[in-house]
Amino acid sequence: MLIDTHCHISKDDYDDIEKIIEDDFKEVDKIIISGCSKKDIIESLDIAEKNDNIYVTIGYHPDQVDQVSDEDLLFLEEKCSNDKVVGIGEIGLDYHYVDDNHDEQIALFEKQLSLAEKLKMPVVIHSRDATKDTIDTLKKYKVTGVIHAFSGSIETANIYISMGFFLGIGGVVTFKNSKLFEVVKSIGLDYIVLETDSPYLTPHPFRGMQNSSKYIPVIAKRISEVTKQPYEEVSKITGDNAIKLFDLK
Ligand code: NI
Repeated sequence: MLIDTHCHISKDDYDDIEKIIEDDFKEVDKIIISGCSKKDIIESLDIAEKNDNIYVTIGYHPDQVDQVSDEDLLFLEEKCSNDKVVGIGEIGLDYHYVDDNHDEQIALFEKQLSLAEKLKMPVVIHSRDATKDTIDTLKKYKVTGVIHAFSGSIETANIYISMGFFLGIGGVVTFKNSKLFEVVKSIGLDYIVLETDSPYLTPHPFRGMQNSSKYIPVIAKRISEVTKQPYEEVSKITGDNAIKLFDLK
């Protein structure tokens, strides 16, 4: 079963969402939308409620750090009881653009990890240029989940796996200049879930086109080549991983 475990679907990016979703479901079986601002949480849940095979993870992205109030955190907790919500995220740390708010980012991250621990829900982690702090923070909580858009070394991959996490692998594995295939080859299928992160990161050879879940087979095919496993196995094992982690019906 092919599952896009992480994408963003919003009117801001797509002109005709219904058509995009119809085309996506010709190629994938299930889709998990990541709603990572209050506005996106509302919009993603609305889409999921109209589609049996669409689920959502919800949480405040680190780029929301200046905007999230206590009320917004209560809103998040309330929405977690919705049947369509299968995880908390994407949440995490992003030190790429901003260097002066690390403490605030960690505080927001910890509040959401603590919610995930309390509700026993998996988390979807965004970590950019912040590997050490991400690992140190995660270690304080009893949580498991996905390291979304993983792009680190084999050593880092193994640390996350030993902590019970899966790696979210997307279009980057198809890029000619990326070494991510070496990580995938080394760790194998048991700790991988597929994702597009659309509308970003369209896989090769479609770069420049707008990404969507319909490109999941391109990513699965590349993983099949790299791991030397049949395409059907890639689909089955990564699909089973996602179903188990997010408890999809
Ligand atoms: Ni994302």
